[in-house]
Amino acid sequence: MTEAGQATEATADAPLGEASSPQARLNEIRERLAQGERLRGSLETALNRAVAAVDPAATEESLALLQGSGGMELYRSLILWAGPVEGERVLDIGCGSGASTRACADIVGPEGSAVGTDPSPEALEMARERTSDYPNVIYRRAGAENLVGIEDRGYDFAVASLVLDQVGDLEATLREVHRVLRPGGRFVASVMAFDQLRPIDSGLMGALNAVVARHAPGALAGRASRATIPHERPDRAAFEASNLLRPEERDGMLILEMHDEEQAWNFFARTTMVLMLSDAGRNEFREVLGRRLPHTLSLPIRLMRSRRPG
Ligand SMILES: C[S@@+](CC[C@H](N)C(=O)[O-])C[C@H]1O[C@@H](n2cnc3c(N)ncnc32)[C@H](O)[C@@H]1O
Repeated sequence: MTEAGQATEATADAPLGEASSPQARLNEIRERLAQGERLRGSLETALNRAVAAVDPAATEESLALLQGSGGMELYRSLILWAGPVEGERVLDIGCGSGASTRACADIVGPEGSAVGTDPSPEALEMARERTSDYPNVIYRRAGAENLVGIEDRGYDFAVASLVLDQVGDLEATLREVHRVLRPGGRFVASVMAFDQLRPIDSGLMGALNAVVARHAPGALAGRASRATIPHERPDRAAFEASNLLRPEERDGMLILEMHDEEQAWNFFARTTMVLMLSDAGRNEFREVLGRRLPHTLSLPIRLMRSRRPG
C-alpha cells in the first residue's frame, strides 16, 4: 500500500496563532491557564495539539516505561479484543507516534492494512519515521470528528487508544466511526479511568491535582468527567446517536513503580497535567511528588468494545 494523497484537514485552533512554534503556543496556553482561564473548548483543543506537537512520542514512550505491568501490551490487548483476523483493514484513530498503528499492522499481517489518523502533523511525522519498514501502513491527517479522506464502510475494525478523552465532540467522533466501519465492523477504545483510582492513589493524585489547581486554577474544571467515558449521560447518548452498539467494558491496570524522584519525574514530566504548568508549577509538582515517594501507582484504564450493527 502506498501513500496516495496529502493531508487535507485544516485544524481549527482559533485562539492561538498558527504561525508561532508549538513551544510558543504551549507557553501562551500556560500563561492563560495560570491566569485562571478555564480549560475547555478551543483552549483545551489547543493544549492537546500543542502537547502532541511538542512531545509526540510521550504516550508510546511512557507506556514503554511501564514494561513490568505490560505498558506496551496495552495496545495488543486492546486490539486483540476487537477479534482481528489476518488480512483485515483497520483504522487507528488518534494514532500519535504510531505505536498503536504498528501493533494493528502486526496483528492483521502483511495481507491486511492499517491506516493511522491524527490531527497533529508532528505526531504523523514521527509515526511515519517509526513505521518506515511497514509497507501496509499509511497515515492521514484528520481529527476524529471529521475523518477527511477516510472512505465509508472501508474498515473491518477501528481502534482509538487513549484518545476519546481528547476529542472535542464525542458524538461526532462516534458517528464517524459508524460511517467508516463496514456493517458488523468492530470498534475498540481505551481511556484512562481516573474515576477508578484506588484510595491510596487518590491521596497522591489529589496532592498533585492540588498543585495543578494552584498554578492553573481553571485546568481541572472540564477534565474530570472525561475520565468517566462512557458512563455519563451525554456519553451514553453519543453512543446511541451514533447507531453504534452500547459498548461493553473491561478494566485494565498499569502499574507505575516510583522508587525515586527522577524516575517518577521521567513519567510525570511528559503528562499533559504537568506540561500545562508554568516553571514554578512544574517545580512544585516535582517537589510534592518527591515527598510522597516511594509509591506504587496503579493507573486504571477502561477498555470499550462496540460495533456497527451488521
Ligand atoms: C494520548 S495520545 C495517544 C496516541 C496513540 N493512540 C497511542 O495510544 O499511543 C492522544 C492522541 O490523540 C490525538 N488527538 C487529539 N485530539 C484529537 C482529535 N480530535 N481527533 C483525533 N485525535 C486526536 C493527539 O494528537 C494524540 O496524538
